[in-house]
Amino acid sequence: MKPYSESCDQNREPILSVIKPLFADRRGVLEIGSGTGQHAVYFAAALPHLTWYTSDCPEYHAGIRLWLEEAALPNVCAPLQLDVARSTWPELEVDAVFSANTAHIMHWPEVEAMFAGVGGLLPSGGLFALYGPFNYNGLFTSDSNARFDGWLKGRDPAMGVRDFEDLDRLAEAAGMRLLNDYAMPANNRILCWQRQ
Ligand SMILES: C[S@@+](CC[C@H](N)C(=O)[O-])C[C@H]1O[C@@H](n2cnc3c(N)ncnc32)[C@H](O)[C@@H]1O
Repeated sequence: MKPYSESCDQNREPILSVIKPLFADRRGVLEIGSGTGQHAVYFAAALPHLTWYTSDCPEYHAGIRLWLEEAALPNVCAPLQLDVARSTWPELEVDAVFSANTAHIMHWPEVEAMFAGVGGLLPSGGLFALYGPFNYNGLFTSDSNARFDGWLKGRDPAMGVRDFEDLDRLAEAAGMRLLNDYAMPANNRILCWQRQ
């Protein structure tokens, strides 16, 4: 049976409303941490001009494949094995990277590896769009995000909602500059950096 994430169904339309204009002139997108694969099939179907590359750690591949097989889209690719900290990054011709709800799951060295990897992969002008909850100046933007952070740290103390400023520093070190910070429903954001 296909894996299913309710939150993907809830956030896919608001995310699409941001990435549709953002990726209008893009050709290839690498998705980091595709999870169930729901986002990939929804976004690839809505953005047929793009080649959408899915990726994740191997334990997610079977589920992603089920979603891809059912959707049978010509522009979404079988999952690549990409653990941002442990894999050799694939050599892809992409001009954008998308990732949702990964920075708070990854341990900090993995977040560092993700930004370094994205900076190394993207050509000049390439975009990195990162969806999720973020803190600003060390402060939660809502009680629900604070509770979520507590729940994450209860699962694994190395997880947690990341500070925008820390991520922006990693982006800058990887040659990227913040292009926009979009407010999203349920106290989430899409942070978008551009490779210089
Ligand atoms: C909460 S899920 C989000 C999945 C999907 N993007 C979504 O929004 O529903 C976190 C994802 O991050 C991936 N992830 C965690 N650590 C990772 C790493 N080191 N490299 C690549 N992906 C990682 C997990 O495998 C999982 O798919």
